[in-house]
Amino acid sequence: MTVVINMRDGIDERKLAVAVRFILDGKLVAFPTETVYGLGADALNEKAVRRIFEAKGRPADNPLIVHIARFDDLYLLARDVPGEAKVLARKFWPGPLTLVLPRGEGVPDVTTGGLDTVAVRMPAHPIALALIRESTPVAAPSANISGKPSPTLAEHVVDDFYGRIECIIDAGETRIGVESTVLDLSSEKPTLLRPGGLPLEEIEGVIGEVRIHPAVRGELVEVARAPGMKYRHYSPNAQVILVEGPRDRVRDRVTMLVEEYRSRGLRVGVMATREYDADEFVHLGSTDVEVARNVFRALRELDKRDVDIIIAEGVDEKGLGFAVMNRLRKAAGYRIVWA
Ligand code: TXA
Ligand code: MG
Repeated sequence: MTVVINMRDGIDERKLAVAVRFILDGKLVAFPTETVYGLGADALNEKAVRRIFEAKGRPADNPLIVHIARFDDLYLLARDVPGEAKVLARKFWPGPLTLVLPRGEGVPDVTTGGLDTVAVRMPAHPIALALIRESTPVAAPSANISGKPSPTLAEHVVDDFYGRIECIIDAGETRIGVESTVLDLSSEKPTLLRPGGLPLEEIEGVIGEVRIHPAVRGELVEVARAPGMKYRHYSPNAQVILVEGPRDRVRDRVTMLVEEYRSRGLRVGVMATREYDADEFVHLGSTDVEVARNVFRALRELDKRDVDIIIAEGVDEKGLGFAVMNRLRKAAGYRIVWA
């Protein structure tokens, strides 16, 4: 029931036509983007979009991002395109930046979770762009079961959706590894709703200071503007504990925690930028770019190795580190140990 299309060696027009057909027929196609794999459907087809929510087990009030391949399609989807949106799109599209704008009339309610805004981005991946260009704007959340870590490999999508969606395009590992940065331009001041693959510093370099929505920092607030923020996220089966603080103290604290949990008979996994002695260990790399690429895979991998506890080492919040820490704090359900 699920066609897996191998495009690891680049675009094959015959194979692409199969996926395009599925989208036009209202079916679900998982496809690679530069951030993570997306679970795509025709954004303007209500029935098709509803199937995304069903397949993921996603709450109906959590809106989807609409993916486009031509700048002008923005005007099909948004009622108003403010100057800042034009400037940012010209500079960063295709790329890992999602803009939230006043919603146009053609966009169905299901796609935006009933909001009066629509989230749009142009992904920087040749397969995603070709798929969209040859079909229609594509609504796509990350291609994971709701609440699970986002998929950076086609294998992750297979694990979550094989037999339940029509098509999966395999193009190997995604380049960035964390989802797009979500920026709200529909209210008075540009507001960051989700740190992501485009560092905040780069956006501020173009439009000046950006307000950070309090929910990004984990503060409990009114969530109408950013419904995604109130749900459980990125959680593997094992309990995740995040250790934050100065680097040398973090090292000691992680080592202590490993000993402590092991002495209670638990299997402990560690994911970190340095080596640790534990039952299972995944190295995240040493730069913010490497850690972003590896963080979701590490969570899924440690789960497969059947650990009871995952201890994650915190990283510096600069650059992509902001997105990484946001994902790790959520994965930990805010169980954070200060070293
Ligand atoms: O990199 C990405 O953005 C990936 C790839 C597949 O493009 N997609 C992705 O989609 O991460 P998803 O559905 O997992 O996350 C979309 C986020 C959610 O937090 C959602 O609440 C928010 O964007 N969002 C979507 N539309 C919105 C809107 N109109 N207003 C506020 N937030 C919105
Ligand atoms: Mg997601």
